Amino acid sequence: MMLQPIESLELLEPRIAQKGLTVWFTGLSGAGKTTISQAVYKKLIDQGLKVEHLDGDLVRQTLTKGLGFSQSDRIENIRRIGFVAHLLTRNDVIVLVSAISPYRAAREEVRQQIGSFVEIFVDAPLSVCEQRDVKGLYQKARNGEIQRFTGIDDPYEAPFDPEVICSTATESIEQSIAKVMNAIAIFPAR
Ligand code: ADX
Repeated sequence: MMLQPIESLELLEPRIAQKGLTVWFTGLSGAGKTTISQAVYKKLIDQGLKVEHLDGDLVRQTLTKGLGFSQSDRIENIRRIGFVAHLLTRNDVIVLVSAISPYRAAREEVRQQIGSFVEIFVDAPLSVCEQRDVKGLYQKARNGEIQRFTGIDDPYEAPFDPEVICSTATESIEQSIAKVMNAIAIFPAR
């Protein structure tokens, strides 16, 4: 994929035609998935598009309530989110999913199911996420108060070939948002 220089991306505000697409944000807790996806959501809404946002923290209070953080529960979480994302996508909604979704194979499975799919790797070193510790959960995980915390004592499998990488430790939030907007605008299926 030809990438545009970051400086010019900042200025882009692509107009996006409505066609279903799932934009799947994966990455460690605290990497910036929710922040970027919320900002992208607002931009798309401002363009008058039909958009839905499925965020891990919120989805886990409803659709996937009761699931924990074992490997099988995390995979089930991804599958249920993927199922809803698929229904919406085929009805021409742009669906933003932000969930750690640590397993590569599970993300690949929903990609195949949905078809119209771009993967955004929201990447920041564990040390940076841990320093941010927005929810105080890394501290709890280090203290042994939470088990199986992603990156501490549970795995995270980074994508091999994501459509976009947002390196949130080194680029600005505006740059990350611009990259995602650009990827949505140029998605081949539209
Ligand atoms: S996923 O791994 O199943 O995709 P998901 O994105 O839905 O995770 O939920 C992650 C959120 O749950 C984190 O942002 C954090 O607030 C909370 N959480 C609670 N326990 C854990 C844990 N053991 N590992 C990761 N996140 C956890």
